[in-house]
Amino acid sequence: NDGMVNINQRLTEIFLHSISASFPGLKGKLPVSITLNQNEKFGDYQCNSAMPISGVLKAQGTKMAPRQIAELILKNLPSSDLIDSCNIAGPGFINIRLNVSFLKRALSDVLVHGVRTHHSKGECGKVVIDYSSPNIAKEMHVGHLRSTIIGDCIANLFEYFGHEVLRVNHVGDWGTQFGMLIAHLTDMFPNYKEESPPIGDLQAFYKQSKKRFDDDPEFKKRAYSCVVKLQSGDPDFINAWKLICDVSRKEFQVIYDRLGIVNLIERGESFYHNLMPPVIAEIEKQGYVVVEDGRKLVFPEGSQFPLTIVKSDGGFTYDTSDLACIKQRIFDESGANLIYVTDAGQAAHFKAIYSVARKMGWYDPQVTRVEHVAFGVVLGEDRKKFKTRSGETVRLAALLDEGRKRCEEKLKEKGRDKELTPEEFKAAQEAVAYGCIKYADLSHNRINDYVFSFDKMLEDRGNTAAYLLYAYTRIKSIARVAKVSREELKEAASSFYDDDGLPLEHAKELKLARFITRFPEVLQRVCDDLAPHTLCDYLYELATVYTEFYDVCYCVEKDRKTGDVVKIHKHRLLLCDATVAVMDQCFKILGIKPVHKM
Ligand code: ARG
Repeated sequence: NDGMVNINQRLTEIFLHSISASFPGLKGKLPVSITLNQNEKFGDYQCNSAMPISGVLKAQGTKMAPRQIAELILKNLPSSDLIDSCNIAGPGFINIRLNVSFLKRALSDVLVHGVRTHHSKGECGKVVIDYSSPNIAKEMHVGHLRSTIIGDCIANLFEYFGHEVLRVNHVGDWGTQFGMLIAHLTDMFPNYKEESPPIGDLQAFYKQSKKRFDDDPEFKKRAYSCVVKLQSGDPDFINAWKLICDVSRKEFQVIYDRLGIVNLIERGESFYHNLMPPVIAEIEKQGYVVVEDGRKLVFPEGSQFPLTIVKSDGGFTYDTSDLACIKQRIFDESGANLIYVTDAGQAAHFKAIYSVARKMGWYDPQVTRVEHVAFGVVLGEDRKKFKTRSGETVRLAALLDEGRKRCEEKLKEKGRDKELTPEEFKAAQEAVAYGCIKYADLSHNRINDYVFSFDKMLEDRGNTAAYLLYAYTRIKSIARVAKVSREELKEAASSFYDDDGLPLEHAKELKLARFITRFPEVLQRVCDDLAPHTLCDYLYELATVYTEFYDVCYCVEKDRKTGDVVKIHKHRLLLCDATVAVMDQCFKILGIKPVHKM
């Protein structure tokens, strides 16, 4: 058993088979596409290939009406346990109705084996995903928060599909700013080698040193010499650099701990320091380097905007480190999927890096998938750049604090502080607060700018984590309220499994079942587009379809007068279980921690 069937993919294979058999001359020329049926009444899926096939045939001098083509496709369709029936509508649309006994079995399978999907593309290669990536000594801002949330979700998704995933935090730890930071450090804490300097506020420290750098030419000169000593590996300077990085690292870690970000390994720009000179030499050897005003430049294919790989003072740049980095990820890490998650402002940078890497022959885009996952800017409710009231940039810790506070107020409004134990309350408060912040980000198409609004994200109606988390706890409580034990349900599930599967009959039961079986194809789409909002849309719609079912299909029937339980529909309780199982997976991929009580 290899998990849930990707129905769309399976249907595509079946239709492709028939089309190739029907029109051997068109082999490989037509992408067969199966889509969800626009109208539930006519079928579950549809295949609209007859029209384009007719066009291609016509161009080859054969006249055949799309309807005739559709008929031929159906005639040659291999038999499948998935399909109940097909019919042709309009000019040649093929409606496909799924087999109910397939649905019953599929749901039964989810209950017994859990929600598992396997990657459709067979052997899956290693993923190297670069996300979060804040800069040492500077603050981690909302852009880095987006990168952290989106990157973590995509990494979870690939892991869920069975890929090996390397999560890399490409921190900015090697820029020229370290010269002034080290010079300032040695002035402020001459004792730094003996006792670790008590830098409480690294951002303030950064600002002070920047001010000195800008105002004092003497200091500036020293700062430059510090960079040279640092980059040449002088142990004292490396030591000072490490101390500064440590302070930043601890601050970042607090944010990661709160958001539940794990397995993200720090491998900053400094990691590539020794890899840069050979990469530059390699590019020079290929004859791709142009020298201009003492700088060494490389022009990406068809672009006038060069990358600077060596500055006029001999130093390296962000471009240089990213070239060394991509090569390292392809050759040393054997990455088959390289993903970079940053704001859309860096799109040109990555486009240029990828282009030069291809020109150097480091990878073939047919074999290695290299993608920049770009996202828009975070805006305030006034649709301007996200700032505090006094106009300063918002610190992430303060932002998370505020989310927690707002959530606490909301839960108290609902009287939850009286119903839950203090531990349960705290768990609910954090899960909802961080869940809402993550979900608000993930549920928007990443490429757009998005408006950060606590009011909207904490609303318990609509497409928010608050709504979904409530829905989840409610569904989970149904069996508990019905006083049907886990063991009893487990037994029922396995006896249905040994029989014909879950006995689904009611139209709303079947609708929910169909929706659940779409999970693998939805995940595949998220994986293809690297667009988490598609998963959020699915999760929200799942909750909606579930509500439609729950409103009309009673799980437990009670006597109106006495309130005694008259009948328990175990298969419906099990359908609730299957819904919960899919929701669980969605939350896991989205990085949201559901609570059992809230
Ligand atoms: N540190 C960079 C920034 O804050 C992001 C780094 C992204 N990763 C990379 N390989 N360039 O903008």
